[in-house]
Amino acid sequence: MCWKEIGNVFEPTADVYIGSDICLKCHKAELTKYPVMHGPVAAVECLRCHTPHESNSPALLGSTSPRICVQCHVPELLSPKPVEHLDLKRDCLECHVAHGGLKHMLLRATPTTQPTTQPTTRPAPGNRDVAAIDLPTGGRP
Ligand code: HEC
Ligand code: HEC
Ligand code: HEC
Ligand code: HEC
Repeated sequence: MCWKEIGNVFEPTADVYIGSDICLKCHKAELTKYPVMHGPVAAVECLRCHTPHESNSPALLGSTSPRICVQCHVPELLSPKPVEHLDLKRDCLECHVAHGGLKHMLLRATPTTQPTTQPTTRPAPGNRDVAAIDLPTGGRP
């Protein structure tokens, strides 16, 4: 049913194939949550970052940041500004939101870009600090 809803003519069952499309059955709202969506989210590449089942990382992530991010973003190719880009151990999610943002660069509303003396803990998953805008809710059962 959910396959037809997303205009997919091809109807594999979850028993034989688990692709990211299945996630849309319940999480379709993730595709339109932000004015600017991050490419792999918009492209429904959910399983690049998430695992379909349980995970040791919060938000069912397959691994942690920066590892999930450097799958696609070669660290050496990131802009040298901010300098934190040069620190391979930095948690990308301190400053970026994985799914999207209000603007390009997907920055958090309160990025820790300037002084590194600021607290670096990021909000718990689901506790989004960009939620100041009127985000659509729902889409999950
Ligand atoms: C049958 C419905 C359903 C499907 C299909 C589904 N989910 Fe979920 N998912 C849920 C529900 C319900 C929750 C809990 C709702 C909440 O936390 O608000 C949830 C929560 C999550 C969370 C948050 C977990 C956390 O710890 O914060 C992630 C991430 C997630 N799902 C990813 C996925 C991905 C990736 C897929 C595809 C492989 C998927 N889901 C498929 C129903 C579904
Ligand atoms: C680039 C990696 C990445 C991709 C691709 C991605 N996610 Fe996420 N997702 C995350 C991260 C990281 C979080 C934890 C929230 C945070 O820190 O921004 C998250 C959080 C979530 C949550 C928890 C709810 C919330 O608002 O925090 C759900 C549900 C979810 N993702 C579903 C999906 C679905 C469905 C897709 C595919 C359409 C997807 N994700 C694609 C990285 C990703
Ligand atoms: C201290 C905050 C901070 C951290 C940590 C951080 N970024 Fe950034 N990032 C930024 C800012 C600010 C920009 C915008 C730079 C500009 O506008 O020139 C940016 C821009 C980007 C861009 C677009 C420009 C480019 O360089 O291609 C990508 C991609 C990116 N970051 C990925 C990452 C990844 C991946 C990580 C983790 C390895 C990461 N960032 C860690 C703050 C950060
Ligand atoms: C599956 C590959 C993939 C993964 C994994 C991935 N990205 Fe991206 N990212 C892209 C692509 C493709 C683009 C360019 C399209 C776009 O702007 O969204 C991009 C663009 C960006 C940009 C710049 C967006 C802009 O507005 O110019 C930032 C910042 C970024 N990613 C951060 C991250 C962070 C942080 C993570 C880890 C949570 C991550 N990415 C994981 C593929 C990926």
